Amino acid sequence: AERKILDDIEHQFQLGQDALIKITEQFLEDFRLGLGDYNHPMAMIPTFVTGVPDGTETGTFLALDLGGTNLRVCEVTLLGNHDFRLRQQKYKVSEALKTGEATVLFDYLADSVDAFLTEFSSATGSPVSTSVANPFDSPTEVPLGLTFSFPVEQTALNEGKILTWTKGFAAKNAIGNDVVRLLQDAFDRKHLHVRCVALVNDTVGTLLSRAYTAGSCLLGGIFGTGTNGAFVEQVSNITKLGNSPARTKGGVMIVNTEWGAFNNTRTTLPTTPYDNKLDRESINPRKQAFEKFISGMYLGEITRNILLSLIDASPRPLLFDGSSSAPLNTHYGLDTAIISEVEYAWESGRGDEVAPQKSSGSKPNWQSAHFTDVDALSPQDIARLERIRDILIQRLQLAPENVTLRDAAIVRWAASLVANRAARLSATAIAAVLVQTSHAKLGGGTPEPKENIVVGVDGSLIQHYPNFQTRLRASLQSLVGEAVEKRVEIDLAKDGSGAGAALCALQAIKQGL
Ligand code: BG6
Ligand code: GLC
Repeated sequence: AERKILDDIEHQFQLGQDALIKITEQFLEDFRLGLGDYNHPMAMIPTFVTGVPDGTETGTFLALDLGGTNLRVCEVTLLGNHDFRLRQQKYKVSEALKTGEATVLFDYLADSVDAFLTEFSSATGSPVSTSVANPFDSPTEVPLGLTFSFPVEQTALNEGKILTWTKGFAAKNAIGNDVVRLLQDAFDRKHLHVRCVALVNDTVGTLLSRAYTAGSCLLGGIFGTGTNGAFVEQVSNITKLGNSPARTKGGVMIVNTEWGAFNNTRTTLPTTPYDNKLDRESINPRKQAFEKFISGMYLGEITRNILLSLIDASPRPLLFDGSSSAPLNTHYGLDTAIISEVEYAWESGRGDEVAPQKSSGSKPNWQSAHFTDVDALSPQDIARLERIRDILIQRLQLAPENVTLRDAAIVRWAASLVANRAARLSATAIAAVLVQTSHAKLGGGTPEPKENIVVGVDGSLIQHYPNFQTRLRASLQSLVGEAVEKRVEIDLAKDGSGAGAALCALQAIKQGL
């Protein structure tokens, strides 16, 4: 019975090649729908950014970044040689601010900018310099680019209505309002000489900054608290723009897909009871379905749901001798950082190998649910499991007598199931963009491209989760073929959103906005 419970869980989290192909096909269909019409959950938002930088742009700008782990205020200097300098300060956004009145949240943003200008920035000492004439009335007014990492229906580079909140935010009286106006009003209330000139999603910022440093970029992807991607699309494909000037001009435009909301109906996504529980108990049920399978905000919680079901298993507990702890009993009490630590403890010393080992001889197969023979483990494996056991005792406040090495192995197994599925699903999103932009055919068969296809990524998951990118790449290869996959250059665009916001601010100033 025990073995069957574990096997069943493992089975539910496995995603075969056919499923991956089906999901990617659904992605392409949803791209088409979202580009054709407004009001689709996966919004395919035209950003009015109609080109990517070439690395020669210069100037100093303020950037404000809301929506990731931290609120950040940065001073970004574009150096003009594919490089930028960034000075930043991070601020915490409390739960009360995330869910209170929007004006209070935006006042806090303005206060943070004020504090930054007073304490850290050189912008107050010397007027900002841009490569174009500063068009503001007051020569001391500082141009600011806002990275706002939520869905916004943009109508111009410096204008857009908030469509919905995601990632645990729910501030009141914000949805439907112009986010640039909300911020500017807060600056004006505080008499700050700062003007918000451009609005950018973090994915778009990441794409622009990677283009700045690499010379080109097709896709900007975030795998952090949330997940999303933006890519360079032919304007002719964005049919919902109708005959507007933006469309008739032709060329390309960056589209923010908001892929976190892919398949909210969950007809294609492989939903398990652990996902259902997470969704039901979230503040946005039936929203952000894809994001809830993938991103850092949720992976720990899915794992917690699995662990609780094993603690409560019948006819007898399968974990921690049936005992739990305060963090394990708390909603979102198992942070993704902890499962990342668990996987790291198991993998460290294994080089770049992907986590699960194939079974060999009498060794247990750690990918499947056979944890019976702890005695047959090598001393090295025992040492790894002991490290994991220590992490569990400390971070989950479990009583040491209730945590065996076998429990440690089960937790690692659960973490790897959740993370492997996340990485495989992440690959479908990237594959869909490659197919949509004619860089690949689904299932392979495209000849090796002459040039690298540049993808810029950012976010805590892809930066810190052990081997997330390795796992993602393996699935990407199975979807688009080796010839294309080996030409996909996935690089971290560190602090990319800040630089991207600065690049957008520059474009806005050039356009006289
Ligand atoms: C940061 C960006 O680098 O990455 C944020 O500045 C973005 O805008 C973030 O949202 C994503 O990562 P995380 O893990 O902080 O959500
Ligand atoms: C959420 C937001 C999206 C953002 C992503 C990554 O999905 O809706 O706008 O890009 O998180 O931060």
